[in-house]
Amino acid sequence: MKDKFYITTPIYYPSDKLHIGHTYCTVATDAMARYKRLQGYDVMFLTGTDEHGQKIEDKAKAAGVTPKQFVDNIVEGKGGILDLWKLMNISNDRFIRTTDDYHEAAVQKIFKKLYEQGDIYKGKYVGKYCKPCESFWTETQLVDGKCPDCGREVQDAEEEAYFFRLSKYADRILDLLENTDFLEPRSRVNEMVNNFIKPGLEDLCVSRTSFTWGVPVDFDPGHVVYVWIDALSNYITALGYDNDKYNDYDKFWPADVHFVGKEIVRFHSIIWPAILMALDLPLPKKVYGHGWLLLEGGKMSKSKGNVVDPVILAQRYGVDALRYFLLREFPFGSDGNFSNEALISRINVDLANDLGNLVSRTVSMAGKYFEGGKLPNKQAEGPEDAELVALASGLRDKYEGHMEKYAFQDALVDVFGLISRANKYIDETKPWILGKDESQKARLARVMYNLLESIRIAAVLLIPFIPDTVEKIFAQIGTGENGRTWESAGTFGVLPADVTIHRGENLFPRIDMEKELKELESLEKKPEAPKAAEAPKAEAAKAEKPAEPEYITIDDFAKVKFVTAKVLACEAVPKSAKLLRFTLDCGEEFPRQILSGIHEWYEPEDLVGKTVVACTNLKPRKMMGIMSNGMLISAVKEEPDGSEKLHLLMLDDKVPAGYGLC
Ligand code: MSP
Repeated sequence: MKDKFYITTPIYYPSDKLHIGHTYCTVATDAMARYKRLQGYDVMFLTGTDEHGQKIEDKAKAAGVTPKQFVDNIVEGKGGILDLWKLMNISNDRFIRTTDDYHEAAVQKIFKKLYEQGDIYKGKYVGKYCKPCESFWTETQLVDGKCPDCGREVQDAEEEAYFFRLSKYADRILDLLENTDFLEPRSRVNEMVNNFIKPGLEDLCVSRTSFTWGVPVDFDPGHVVYVWIDALSNYITALGYDNDKYNDYDKFWPADVHFVGKEIVRFHSIIWPAILMALDLPLPKKVYGHGWLLLEGGKMSKSKGNVVDPVILAQRYGVDALRYFLLREFPFGSDGNFSNEALISRINVDLANDLGNLVSRTVSMAGKYFEGGKLPNKQAEGPEDAELVALASGLRDKYEGHMEKYAFQDALVDVFGLISRANKYIDETKPWILGKDESQKARLARVMYNLLESIRIAAVLLIPFIPDTVEKIFAQIGTGENGRTWESAGTFGVLPADVTIHRGENLFPRIDMEKELKELESLEKKPEAPKAAEAPKAEAAKAEKPAEPEYITIDDFAKVKFVTAKVLACEAVPKSAKLLRFTLDCGEEFPRQILSGIHEWYEPEDLVGKTVVACTNLKPRKMMGIMSNGMLISAVKEEPDGSEKLHLLMLDDKVPAGYGLC
């Protein structure tokens, strides 16, 4: 047995049914856990649910049930989160609910410990609160006066509260982020440093008195522990830290990697390490912030309809097809656009055509040309063999390089590279011609063997991704236990020469794209999808509306006034990492002042004299106490690592200022 490997997903909010975006991270974590088990690691794969907070309290109230009844239903009820993970073949070793008694008691101990040692102190909170994100923000952290995570309105908040001395750890966190590989992809480091650390890390408010659905601060009734302190602690309480329920802390902590979505990187790469530093515990080895699955370019939500329901997708196409699609289609570190066309096309091209055909052609030819599907020992090599054998022999090491970097897409591209090469090998060697000539029997046997062995190696490396399908493949190509191991994937020639094959079912039936898209469309029109979870009363009554494209009319468009503008002056706004203050000639009587959040990409002096495009009839608003009378238009570019880059739209400097755009 190799070393231990501890991997986690975020713990999910059971506030609604989960959609395909949530499934993405859990499937990725599952693939990683299975890969490490394949390599011989002693794996702990943890997932769970994050069940406290005002959002849950509010939803339960609206549903007319207690918060505990509400979350029990979504987590453990029929078609709930536990059922979903079973359906998706998720191999987690442990599942934590933050309402579990042992966890709550441990969180109380952690909170008290930090209080007694002075890392938590009592003060007064004055600031802004984003209810959907359960996040407190200071004025300076807001973007355009709104929540920097979700862009929604925030509320004024003031209450007596406990604070965690986050500021005390700022230098160590900066060092951790800038000088180690703690946080990946690297672009997320810049985001954290520029947006949160450089502007000044303030102490964090870690208790609430405005609602009760949380872990009570046991030494101060009326206060509950901030949901993120409660939630982050799950990674250690689930191993037995400060409780007797489990006893694996010493064995598994620190975590080898926390997989988290990009919007919660801040909590995992700043707050979580600071808490661990305060507790004097080792830090996780890595936090990986993956991208989002988007729907029509926007964030996914259950309200967008059935297409994002993993239960429906898995029922229609099979769990393995869905798992494969999620990890093959999108680079893990970046955002990706989910679409049914892309899903069906992956199934048809990669799974049905390339993999499915290779297996069925090989197995049926071996069965046809050799009695009982058993190959003879006498086999003859040929000139076409070397390339295929070399590719198959070297595949495992290349794949390992990708998997160690969580580059699931690259790993799958390489495995399917072998599958395509093997299909080409069939065309080159033409077994149907060899089969007609008795003197070519030994050559034909070798061709079949090489194909089976290539399929075996590809199948072993697909175990983390499509485990059920791989079992079917192993049964068809006659692989025994020794041909399914990590070691065997690095060696060509593990199958016995006289291997016996067994014809089986077609692995992936082709889907009629046009017909299927029509059916999906009609499914979308049905008011209610089959339920993933039997939602509580009031929730169930709300039919979810399918998304309608939101068109605007030409009159709507004409309402927006765009003009060409010459930059007369440009300077950085003091204390803002992002904002530049522009003085613009828009062809008006007086120069116009507009603020734009593009400092990350432009130095102010480089922009003076440029001709840009401004929207001048946007309602003026104050940012950082300075009035902005409009907006400059930029192009947004999604970088391969998932970050966004703004390019200020610039025109030929000969275009005069003050021209309207049509
Ligand atoms: N409860 C917190 C996590 C606490 S971890 C100590 C939470 N829960 S969540 O249910 O809102 O989200 C769980 C994960 O799902 C997050 O990592 C989030 O990024 C991910 N996703 C939610 N929608 C997603 C997509 N559309 N695409 C990819 N991942 C998405 O945050």
